[in-house]
Amino acid sequence: MITLNTNVNGEDISRSIEGSTLLIHFLRNELGLTGTHEGCDSGHCGACTVTIDGQTVKSCMVLAASTEGGAVTTIEGIAKPSDLHPMQSAFNDHHGLQCGFCTPGMVVTAIDMVERYQKNNKLLDEDAIRQELTGNICRCTGYQNIVAAIQDGAARMQEGS
Ligand code: FES
Ligand code: FES
Repeated sequence: MITLNTNVNGEDISRSIEGSTLLIHFLRNELGLTGTHEGCDSGHCGACTVTIDGQTVKSCMVLAASTEGGAVTTIEGIAKPSDLHPMQSAFNDHHGLQCGFCTPGMVVTAIDMVERYQKNNKLLDEDAIRQELTGNICRCTGYQNIVAAIQDGAARMQEGS
C-alpha cells in the first residue's frame, strides 16, 4: 500500500491505495466519480479521458500514483450541472450525444483541443477537429453532430459565454 496525496477537481485528497491502482479505478471506485467512463481498458476508446496538470490522459492507462502532488480534473470538475461549461451546452444544443457513454471523454478532449488551438492562434476547422478526435470513439452519432458541437463550443469559449 502507498499513501497518495493528490488534488481532484480542486479538492486535496489523501488515500491509502495499492500502488498498482489505475487512475480510472481510483476515480470511480475510491472517489465515486463515475462520470469518467470505463470502456475498452486499453487506451483506445477515450471514454476515460481526464486531465492531469492540464494535459489530457486516458485514465485507464496511468497509475493513480502518477498523480502524486498533481491536479486531476474529471468531467465532474468541468462545471456544475446547473451551470454547464459552454462546450457542454454546445453538445446539448447540437445533439452531440446519444447514449452518452463517450460524452465525458469527448467533452474533456474538446475543451483541451479548443484551449490549445486558441492559445496558439491556430485554426480549429472541421479537419483539425476530426484529427484531434482520433483517440475518442463514438459508436452512436457518426461524429457529425459532435464536430458541429465542438465548432460551436469553440466559438462560445472564445466569447467567454
Ligand atoms: S477505457 Fe480508457 S481508453 Fe477506453
Ligand atoms: S453517444 Fe453513444 S458512444 Fe457516443
